[in-house]
Amino acid sequence: MTRFDDTVTMPTTRPAGCPFDPPTDLAALRDEQPLRPMLYPDGHRGWLATGHAAVRAVLADRRFSSRTELMHSPVPREGMDGPLPSSPPGMFINTDAPEHTRYRGLLTGAFTVRRMRLLAERVDEVTREHLDAMQRQGPSADLVTAFAQPIPALMICELLGAPYSDRDFFLEHTAVFNDFEATAEQQAASVTAFGGFLHDLVLAKRAAPTDDLLSDLTRTDLTVEELTNVAFLLLGAGLDTTANMIALGAFALLTTPDQVALLHADPERSVEELLRYLSIAHTMVRVALEDVELDGRLIRAGDTVTLSVEAGNRDPAKFPEPDRLDLGRRATGHLSFGHGIHQCLGQQLARVELRVALPALFTRFPSLRLAVAPQDVPLRSGVDILGAHRLPVTWDAP
Ligand code: HEM
Repeated sequence: MTRFDDTVTMPTTRPAGCPFDPPTDLAALRDEQPLRPMLYPDGHRGWLATGHAAVRAVLADRRFSSRTELMHSPVPREGMDGPLPSSPPGMFINTDAPEHTRYRGLLTGAFTVRRMRLLAERVDEVTREHLDAMQRQGPSADLVTAFAQPIPALMICELLGAPYSDRDFFLEHTAVFNDFEATAEQQAASVTAFGGFLHDLVLAKRAAPTDDLLSDLTRTDLTVEELTNVAFLLLGAGLDTTANMIALGAFALLTTPDQVALLHADPERSVEELLRYLSIAHTMVRVALEDVELDGRLIRAGDTVTLSVEAGNRDPAKFPEPDRLDLGRRATGHLSFGHGIHQCLGQQLARVELRVALPALFTRFPSLRLAVAPQDVPLRSGVDILGAHRLPVTWDAP
């Protein structure tokens, strides 16, 4: 832990032992002061919230902004001193009320119960298709590419109403996003290809609306640029997150096989605990728009506050024995989908995907096990979303 006149820097070193544990110093910082001063890499003096109550309080408080152009990065970013770049129109995750309220209202209206029910039926089918393919090609696979990634990719495809003929395009390019061996040029080419694809899809839906979320949105006053960015946001927020949650969830269960029976007994409860324990969206950032008194501290207007979701989700004041994965516990109140006005818009879809995919995987392959030692699973590090690059598994052929 580095100290500068009672300030610390963001702990990022994860312990060697358990692959799912947060950076070691976070727990000590939380025990000491759940909200404390922090020195940012560009010299900014802001804050670090590690306690569950402190993280939740900031997320619930509209005096804190989500605008990236006001924020200082808690970790070093290449070639960037000072505030982060602003976001394009439609990227409402980085906006505040009332701008955010307008987008969120339009989007919530499009995420209807009926649409979520139809999607839930498709999750079943898509999961079965991929388990069948694994079984045909087995008895071993990379669970990331064979299972964890294609299911959410195809669900976003469905959500946006992309035609069936575009499935291969979706699968090919979304796989590049998650491929850590892909070059920066390959990644950039896929982002550009997706931008063009989504732009054309918006124009097609405008010209001839069908029964899907994107078509509903084209009937609003959003511009083509806004619609394209909203589609990109749904893809960006809904793909990497769910894919890594399926992969890490499976990995966690493969290392604690005694928990699998609990998963089958109560998938809903189990998924909430996996979300809490894994906290894949581990850190969020906000900026004070005015002076705010919190936890006996005065946060000044302009101060950046880094919120450690993973430390909050492992706060013993909220969850007893927080470092233990216990699918039998009620993990209600975890912060893994955020809290407040930006709380995850796709959480019901994500929950459905996890509740279907994980039990189905362990039902189809009761002898499923890692094909490498747990410490040899290549984990993502230094990124916004935790996960595994690859998850080699094997099972007994029938
Ligand atoms: C396990 C999977 C997922 C996790 C862990 C997750 C996590 C989160 C978190 C923590 C936030 C809050 C960000 C903030 O406050 O700054 C968020 C927002 C959001 N998520 Fe998710 N998400 C998941 C799946 C999805 C899916 C499937 C979709 C869409 C299909 C989605 C769409 C969004 C959108 C649009 C926002 C922005 C909401 C707003 O700003 O009002 N997410 N998500």
